Amino acid sequence: GEPDSNLSITIVGASGDLAKKKIFPALFALFYEDCLPENFTVFGYARSKMTDEELRNMISKTLTCRIDKSENCGDKMDQFLTRCFYHSGQYNSEEHFLELDGKLKEKEAGRLSNRLFYLSIPPNIFVDVVRCASLKASSTTGWTRVIVEKPFGRDFESSGQLTRCLKQYLTEDQIFRIDHYLGKELVENLSVLRFSNLVFEPLWSRNYIRNVQLIFSEDFGTEGRGGYFDNYGIIRDIMQNHLLQILALFAMETPVSLDAEDIRNEKVKVLKSMRPLLLEDLVVGQYKGHSRGGKLYLGYTDDPTVPKNSVTPTFAAAALFINNARWDGVPFLMKAGKALHTKRAEIRVQFRHVPGNLYKRNFGTDLDKATNELVLRVQPDEAVYLKINNKVPGLGMRLDRSDLNLLYSARYPKEIPDAYERLLLDAIEGERRLFIRSDELDAAWTLFTPLLKELEEKKIAPELYPYGSRGPVGAHYLAAKHNVRWGDLSGEDS
Ligand code: BG6
Repeated sequence: GEPDSNLSITIVGASGDLAKKKIFPALFALFYEDCLPENFTVFGYARSKMTDEELRNMISKTLTCRIDKSENCGDKMDQFLTRCFYHSGQYNSEEHFLELDGKLKEKEAGRLSNRLFYLSIPPNIFVDVVRCASLKASSTTGWTRVIVEKPFGRDFESSGQLTRCLKQYLTEDQIFRIDHYLGKELVENLSVLRFSNLVFEPLWSRNYIRNVQLIFSEDFGTEGRGGYFDNYGIIRDIMQNHLLQILALFAMETPVSLDAEDIRNEKVKVLKSMRPLLLEDLVVGQYKGHSRGGKLYLGYTDDPTVPKNSVTPTFAAAALFINNARWDGVPFLMKAGKALHTKRAEIRVQFRHVPGNLYKRNFGTDLDKATNELVLRVQPDEAVYLKINNKVPGLGMRLDRSDLNLLYSARYPKEIPDAYERLLLDAIEGERRLFIRSDELDAAWTLFTPLLKELEEKKIAPELYPYGSRGPVGAHYLAAKHNVRWGDLSGEDS
């Protein structure tokens, strides 16, 4: 911004979980890194009555200092907190937003002012808040932008409806739809790896890649958010957005430039080349209670906020296909689940066999054990590694699978910023590359909506799997049907 301009950030839904866990800490981290303009204020907006002091107390409990940056951290926190204020109001009250406007103006003290609203609220009040904020609390001198979080509807129609409502009050340019996976370091690095290394891009097609796997697993269930989750399920919660966004970045053609519109054009193109999902290419699961080590882990439907007979999937595996020249016939397999044995997100690329491999007999009968695999581990322990075949040193001729391993913690000891830091900074700077454009969102829903409807109409029963297990075996049959094995082919780290 201009040297003397002002930035006001209002977090609507300030006492919610996301605000406490992610947004305030990310804003503080940006402040610490000197990424916020000189004149900024943060406002929390919510219904409950709270003083500025009480808000500061609440926030202060959530702020942390980076290990490598603990110097002066306490002072910095205090400075940050003095910039935080609270306004209590109803979400559908224009009058209350007008009061907020008054407070914002006071802090802005006549300077040119930009205003960012972060909607950290349930979807049923999105439109009310956008209406009140845009009518009564828009900036009159600078820009006004609104960050929204999923769920963006629950199917193609409701998402379109939401977009149309938002656009009564905002232009597309003012809407920043977050998919926080796009702010993750390894997801951003995907394009760098591919487009700035000669050894990858020429291999990036059906000619060399046998399949691609996008895997998300969490080792905890939906405890505490059963009410939200039951209306959405894992396909809408993770696949239609986080995993599909990664897929689009992975598979898109080379964009004309790194400009937001060029990148998003390519993502839309690849999504439109995809075949909508079929029920036969889907496996759904739901976790059930399980006791282990004397501890009882409750099943999904044991949650009092979840109906006893719910068939909402907490696990899903799917095979997706892209009908274009680059990817024809290559299965893209997705797997996402709650209450599994591990917490991990990764992108795995399995390459084809080496034609006429000279060393064939060294691999026994299972040539799959010899295929190269490129893995981007998004979390935890960020890493990029490539499985290669290597000679075991010595007089004999024994081959070994080994990793060329770029482990971030070893190579880049500085702590990696949280996805929300990157995304908030981009929204402040007006960089739209990592936000979802409305036509992208439409294309994403087009792929999943028929499947979701069929699943719900037929009340397809999910395969039950014990809390903490590897998920339903059906996922393996699905993969086998497409000639794929999940995870590392030699079974070392699957
Ligand atoms: C959210 C989902 O979008 O992503 C949650 O609604 C999920 O169900 C979360 O737990 C995972 O995000 P992260 O960054 O912790 O991997």
